Amino acid sequence: MQRRTTEAPCDPIFVERWSPRSFDTTPISAEQMKILLEASRWAPSAMNEQPWFFLVALSEEDRNLFKQCLVQENLIWAANAGALVLVLKRIHYTKTGTPNPTAEFDTGLATMSLILQAEKLGLATHPMGGFHREITIEKLGVDVTQYEPICFIAIGHRAPPEQLPERFRDREFPKGRKPQCEISQYGKFKP
Ligand SMILES: Cc1cc2nc3c(=O)[nH]c(=O)nc-3n(C[C@H](O)[C@H](O)[C@H](O)COP(=O)(O)O)c2cc1C
Repeated sequence: MQRRTTEAPCDPIFVERWSPRSFDTTPISAEQMKILLEASRWAPSAMNEQPWFFLVALSEEDRNLFKQCLVQENLIWAANAGALVLVLKRIHYTKTGTPNPTAEFDTGLATMSLILQAEKLGLATHPMGGFHREITIEKLGVDVTQYEPICFIAIGHRAPPEQLPERFRDREFPKGRKPQCEISQYGKFKP
């Protein structure tokens, strides 16, 4: 079991965020989503390329469409979330047309900004790599010559674990982390 104790006093927002599965059906407003997207805009990126792209489902019609892209194991709990977002990366630099090797990294940075802004608004998020790539491309009209889908994010209001199917309930808690010594070293790499 990885531990939840902190090793240094970082801002609590990093430690207190976690990804629940239990969401209630309260909608996410267009104003809230605009704030989340605004936070993502200001992330750093190589050459200031900003290679991220977010496809947002807020309306019931759009959420029903996006739900068809999720694997069953995610759909079961993500179906309630007020918003579903598909995170994509732009594969090539817009200026040169050459492959952008850090596009996914940059998109991750922008996504974390969106996630932490959601926390600040009292919303919860849960990223999902479990989706059907081909169905997503077809249903959401992704131009794969330009974009690659990376993950979906469920965004919504937390609900009690009791409303989840039983097998998900005991996973509804903040997870621990590896110690700093397993993820960092000072100086030359020491295997
Ligand atoms: C790229 C990515 C893909 C993920 N895919 C899934 C997924 O398909 N289903 C799921 O339940 N959780 C998924 N997660 C959530 C992780 O399991 C979770 O972030 C991790 O266990 C740490 O827990 P925490 O976010 O609550 O701190 C994903 C997270 C990331 C960043």
